[in-house]
Amino acid sequence: MDMTPYEHLGGEEVLTKMVTNFYHHVKQNEVLAPLFPDDLSETARKQIQFLTQFLGGPSLYTMEHGHPMLRARHMPFPITERHAKAWLECMGKAMDSVSLEGPLRDFITSRLTMTAYHMVNTSDDSH
Ligand code: HEM
Repeated sequence: MDMTPYEHLGGEEVLTKMVTNFYHHVKQNEVLAPLFPDDLSETARKQIQFLTQFLGGPSLYTMEHGHPMLRARHMPFPITERHAKAWLECMGKAMDSVSLEGPLRDFITSRLTMTAYHMVNTSDDSH
């Protein structure tokens, strides 16, 4: 059987490194940081669970939190295209940090790009 993107990436170990690095950049990003809590450990834990299943690994997020309903869960936060772009930039740096390259990187980037722009829920530039 073909490997899932999750396995191809390097499973839990690499995903954990990537997500940890991602929130390190989020914390330093002046567009994103104001939306997030100071302590990002629980956010990172949920993101690892979500990306595990998003990439074809075990359904860790759904088992603990139910259906992701990501757009609904992001509604409390005003998310503009500027936020989506910044989110994807941080994720790009996180991918660099684990040397993710080639077709797997392109595949994951295109899926995350669609998801990030799907989260946009306001065009109000004052945020
Ligand atoms: C949670 C912002 C895109 C997955 C959150 C939270 C914020 C946020 C502020 C709440 C953090 C907390 O209170 O712990 C954003 C912004 C995005 C974005 C500004 C820009 C487009 C994405 C994308 C994904 C994603 C593309 C998935 C690929 C998640 C998950 C959670 C979350 C799984 C945890 C939900 C829960 O509470 O169970 N996000 N997000 N987000 N985000 Fe995003």
